[in-house]
Amino acid sequence: MRIPLLCLLVRSFILLCFVEIVLSGFTSSFIRSEWPSTDIPLDSPEFSTPEGYNAPQQVHITQGDYDGKAVIVSWVNMIEPGSSEVLYGKLKNQYNLSAQGTHTNYTFYKYRSGYIHHCLLSGLEHNTKYYYKIGTGNSAREFWFETPPEVDADASYTFGIIGDLGQTYNSLSTLEHYMKTGGQTVLFVGDLSYADRYHDNDGNRWDSWGRLVERSVAYQPWIWSAGNHEIEYKPHLGEFSTFRAYIHRYATPHVASKSNSPLWYAVRRASAHIIVLSSYSPFVKYTPQWLWLREELKQVDREKTPWLIVLMHAPLYNSNGVHYMEGESMRAAFERWLVHYKVDMVFAGHVHAYERSYRVSNINYNITSGNRYPVPDKSAPVYITVGDGGNQEGLASRFLEPQPEYSAFREASYGHSVLELKNRTHAFYNWIRNDDGKSVPTDHVVFHNQYWASNTRRRLKKKQPNRQINLIATY
Ligand SMILES: [Fe+2]
Repeated sequence: MRIPLLCLLVRSFILLCFVEIVLSGFTSSFIRSEWPSTDIPLDSPEFSTPEGYNAPQQVHITQGDYDGKAVIVSWVNMIEPGSSEVLYGKLKNQYNLSAQGTHTNYTFYKYRSGYIHHCLLSGLEHNTKYYYKIGTGNSAREFWFETPPEVDADASYTFGIIGDLGQTYNSLSTLEHYMKTGGQTVLFVGDLSYADRYHDNDGNRWDSWGRLVERSVAYQPWIWSAGNHEIEYKPHLGEFSTFRAYIHRYATPHVASKSNSPLWYAVRRASAHIIVLSSYSPFVKYTPQWLWLREELKQVDREKTPWLIVLMHAPLYNSNGVHYMEGESMRAAFERWLVHYKVDMVFAGHVHAYERSYRVSNINYNITSGNRYPVPDKSAPVYITVGDGGNQEGLASRFLEPQPEYSAFREASYGHSVLELKNRTHAFYNWIRNDDGKSVPTDHVVFHNQYWASNTRRRLKKKQPNRQINLIATY
């Protein structure tokens, strides 16, 4: 009698651990802000400039093509343009390859930027460590990065997810915790420096942010998406353009995915197809972003990239009182596609707290239907808000009560997420809270892939391996 009871208890425990759709969500009571939400002073060592005349600073890299065989290396020279050349190779101090980049600069009201360099290193080998060198003479600096494995359904890979980072001591804590996780690439969900919170949008705070995050992003790519703090539309200063600092400083490989804007694009990396959207660019029917997304979704091949991940800034599902429903117009435009193509996860920021949804959809809603509440939907993505990087605006601690049924877990603390893609069927996911300076894994989920874990095509293929089976139907 005891053994069956024990089995039952163990089974129940496993079921509770792994089930993704249960009836009620959880609101954590843990709220802690260990450091004041003020920015680190500009003269602090965290923002120190490298030694040497006109030495390259704010070094950052991102993926430079569609499939991970290219890297864009970017940096800023503050005094004069300097060289745009990158020396690189597979052995330290032996740079047998070189690439020539270009430089640009911009002004914003009274601020004049340094010389911003972008250099594409292409034709790289997968799964390879490269060393690179920028600058000349005593001012030269050396870094390294590792290319991802070839795009393949079972290529394991670890992503970090960070949003709304800013430049406080909480931001630094998030960054340092992430760097200990073994994450190989950051999916950044918008709101970088918060320079626009300063008088006249002080561009020096873009520079200090670049120096703060260099400790990670010089060594591994961050996949960028833009938030509202990147818009910087300031007509009272005579600044009518949008995203000027962001676009000049943070290049993206948008042309490789046939996008006409650096603000929305896609990359494939290991077993993931990552789609970046812009919450603050036109996206209604017939706009370039809408047309581009429709075509990009048709390119997704779950046989090669089982994990379909979408990034944006304003969340489509979130139950915080702050920024509530700001993603609603994009949800109305795109949710039907996200469900149709069985997107695995949608990561967003904007709300300065953490929240994870169940798989829900609200695609039957129309103005007259009366169906106006999200319903459980196995084809729907999980929506995750990670706007808790730690910027100077502080936490959004006022959640709506009662907790909506679509909300699985929510907590107003600083932190970041780590997503470990193990193979085509399983991924381990963790949200890691900054807790008194320690990193504490707090929300752990095992994700089953939306295509491979429950797909009749997969079962058919297993039974009849020679049978030709169509990929997911195009929409
Ligand atoms: Fe935001």
